[in-house]
Amino acid sequence: MISIRQPARFYIGLCLAMLMPFHSTSDAAGQPRSLGSTYKSDFLIGMAMDFTSNELTPTELELIKSNFNVVTPENSMKPDSVHPAEGRWTWGNADKLVQFCQENKIQIIGHTLVWHGQTGKWFFKGENGQPVSRDVAIERLKEHIHTEVGRYKGKIKGWDVVNEAINDKPNGDSENLRNNGWLEAIGLDYINLAFKFAHEVDPNAELYYNDYNIEKGDKHKSSMLLLKRLVKEGVPIAAVGIQGHWGLNNLPYDELDAAIADYKSLGLKVNISEMDVVITGQGGGQLTPAGGAASAHERDSRRGARTPPTAQQLKQQADAYATFFKIFQKHKDVIERVTLWGLSDARTWRPGQAPLLFDAQNSPKPAFAAVIAAKQP
Ligand code: XIL
Repeated sequence: MISIRQPARFYIGLCLAMLMPFHSTSDAAGQPRSLGSTYKSDFLIGMAMDFTSNELTPTELELIKSNFNVVTPENSMKPDSVHPAEGRWTWGNADKLVQFCQENKIQIIGHTLVWHGQTGKWFFKGENGQPVSRDVAIERLKEHIHTEVGRYKGKIKGWDVVNEAINDKPNGDSENLRNNGWLEAIGLDYINLAFKFAHEVDPNAELYYNDYNIEKGDKHKSSMLLLKRLVKEGVPIAAVGIQGHWGLNNLPYDELDAAIADYKSLGLKVNISEMDVVITGQGGGQLTPAGGAASAHERDSRRGARTPPTAQQLKQQADAYATFFKIFQKHKDVIERVTLWGLSDARTWRPGQAPLLFDAQNSPKPAFAAVIAAKQP
């Protein structure tokens, strides 16, 4: 692997940033510009992080505090993290994150209550390992949501209540719900119930439906059918989260522009909830093609080439981020938040694909400068 020493890297980054049209990553006083303050009048700017054994360094914490005004726990509020077995709750990392955000006046998004991933199989097992009955599954769903939402009541801006309920296999003529444990045990109304349970505990928290690839094609059509029904049935849903796991080979600008308008027509707000733009390899929000644990081969093919990105690739990525941010601003009346899924190319779930705005040494990339420059007057 080619290794470039820190000063050289910084210098290259700076030169690339200077090639970008009319902007600087510093303000008139020479202070680095902040993402959050640049977009203060438009929408919140967030990132995903956790307090785990792989501790964030003081430099990283500073970067977070100076650039982001809202945080999503990347893993630490998921069912597996907080509720690994019946009657067992493990709050350590989630509590730490809430404390850090409160101390630093950073808002918090709860992620996620109901999902097919990172959710113990125990939820769906009845006596003797038999499939759980509908009544017991509803009781477990209620207890899970009541306990978690209740613990952080008043501290969470909004919850991703249901995550990724729509199938990848296209069928735009129907809601095309993914066959997860909750659907199997409860039936179609598990989504309605999840929103109801969250709302009755913390009526002031905004509640979201969150998914990937819903801005285009059949999955968009299915999302419209699902959301239209939820709204019609009086489900307390405030916004839809478009995850935004994009890549240089997947930049759905026009589809996104139209999709945001579609969601607005349903009376919903929109969050861009997990944005990244990979330079190489496979993007997308799917955990693995099969939905299970990724094999070493799958992981490698996702990451693409492990060579550092070229100047041209960094420029393409910068242009892509800028274009997305212009679309977001066009829709600032409905977009409430843009959250990046990680902090840097070292703190990302797509390692080796250089998807974020800071490089692995925490220096701003050309994409950072491009996002700042994309701010419209
Ligand atoms: C990812 C995390 O980033 C990884 O660390 C974890 O191993 C798997 O989950 N959609 C979501 C997120 O809603 O919760 C996922 O986060 C990425 C895709």
